[in-house]
Amino acid sequence: MQILDGRKAAQAIKDELKITVAQRVVEGKKNPHLAAILVGNSGASETYVAAKVKACEETGFTSTLIRLEDSISENRLLDKIRDLNHDPDVDGILVQLPLPKHISSKNVINTIDADKDVDGFHPVSVGKMVEGLPTFIPATPYGIMLLLEHYRIDTKGKHAIVLGRSNIVGRPISILLSGQTPRGNCTVTICHSHTKDIKEHCLQGDIIVAAIGIPEFVKADMVKEGAVVIDVGITRIEDASKKSGFRLRGDVDYENVSPKCSWITPVPGGVGPMTIAALMKNTFMSCAENN
Ligand code: GUN
Repeated sequence: MQILDGRKAAQAIKDELKITVAQRVVEGKKNPHLAAILVGNSGASETYVAAKVKACEETGFTSTLIRLEDSISENRLLDKIRDLNHDPDVDGILVQLPLPKHISSKNVINTIDADKDVDGFHPVSVGKMVEGLPTFIPATPYGIMLLLEHYRIDTKGKHAIVLGRSNIVGRPISILLSGQTPRGNCTVTICHSHTKDIKEHCLQGDIIVAAIGIPEFVKADMVKEGAVVIDVGITRIEDASKKSGFRLRGDVDYENVSPKCSWITPVPGGVGPMTIAALMKNTFMSCAENN
């Protein structure tokens, strides 16, 4: 069993970006600028946004973090997004999800200028991705593809089982893995809450992508010998013995599944850091295309 080390792969991507950004600055060009909006103060969202801001600092990007009250109206949030759309210095806009219930995430996503949609959630970005055109790819599935690329995992003709059908992970990763690209060309099965015999499907998987948000859902008897397992889950489990008060658990029973795998991502340190590296690549691309 070998580890798909997301920390190492992400660092390599950020190091490369840092050099390219520094070169741009020497040439008198602008550096990339990411604007992140955080509504409310959910612990997990705070952590994710802080990690994105830190990655910007490390890589020579400018970042602007806009914190808004939980109670902000949808209209005021949309106005804030429009301001950022019109700010020529801002290359990428992300609104951290989930949002409070009174705000429509669909309206929020649709308001972001598609040219600054570094999360790749806007319908224009999704449509281009489905057509295989160059565009912003949602950070988590893009990060998974970059990780497969970093470790040169052979995907051609392999059967990939995707657990979960979210717009953020399950659906886009199924499109990318089935695409005509170097880390694509898979046969893909998507499983979800209405799928019968999930175990039987999983056992067919040369590659399993687990993105359902149920801690340790994938057990050893669901995984065939030699499979590549990508764990997207990151659930906080209360744990008084930890300083933070919680420990993180993936969607895969790592201890028992890992001995059967050819490759597996750990949690933490697998897909998470790759998501941030992918967001940085999207933001860089936005900057380089328009400046
Ligand atoms: N919440 C969970 N994943 C994501 C992501 O990739 N982008 C944003 N904006 N919010 C998220």
